Amino acid sequence: MRKIVILISGGGSNMKALVQTSRSNRWAERFGAEIAAVISNKANASGLAWAASEGIATTVVDHKAFAAGRSPQEAREAFDAALAAEIHRHNPSLVLLAGFMRILTPGFVRQFEGRMLNIHPSLLPAFPGLHTHQRAIDAGCKFAGATVHGVTAELDHGPIWEQAVVPVLPGDTADTLAARVLTQEHLIYPRAVERWLAKSSA
Ligand code: GRF
Repeated sequence: MRKIVILISGGGSNMKALVQTSRSNRWAERFGAEIAAVISNKANASGLAWAASEGIATTVVDHKAFAAGRSPQEAREAFDAALAAEIHRHNPSLVLLAGFMRILTPGFVRQFEGRMLNIHPSLLPAFPGLHTHQRAIDAGCKFAGATVHGVTAELDHGPIWEQAVVPVLPGDTADTLAARVLTQEHLIYPRAVERWLAKSSA
């Protein structure tokens, strides 16, 4: 059985959609793949309790635990090393970043490049980075959306697997636009994973 590991930092709504789709769409039977673990950098990530209630292994690798006595860069490297070790424990075929709010070092990414996907709440290459919805509104965009892409050392870059477009409506706030985009995220992330699993098992 091929293992999938999902990384979250908060509510994990994309992780929930992935878990639910993996079961409803029978990934184990169709692709020989299952979601084996959910890992978070935040002990209070509410997605952890939900994943555990679904019988999925959960682990916390707290990035704050690596700060003491280290420079910011050393702390980042130490956290990434611990996170990588925890991921490797599951020997995953695929790593999914789902609302994982950490910038990962090139050394970390190199260990998983080609088998690590991320979902970003904009139509990349437009609006990499943070506050994507407010930036789209401020720019006067008529459309916004989300992108599932392969993770590379360059932030929010990498090969695009899926995208979804939503309208930016008059009076939209970042929150109303985010909610409209998030609904689409929950559809395109599982779709992208199924395409990745089908392609990698061919
Ligand atoms: C989503 O907008 C996602 O695109 C971004 O983090 C937000 C929260 O995701 N990466 P989730 O609800 O934690 O899956």
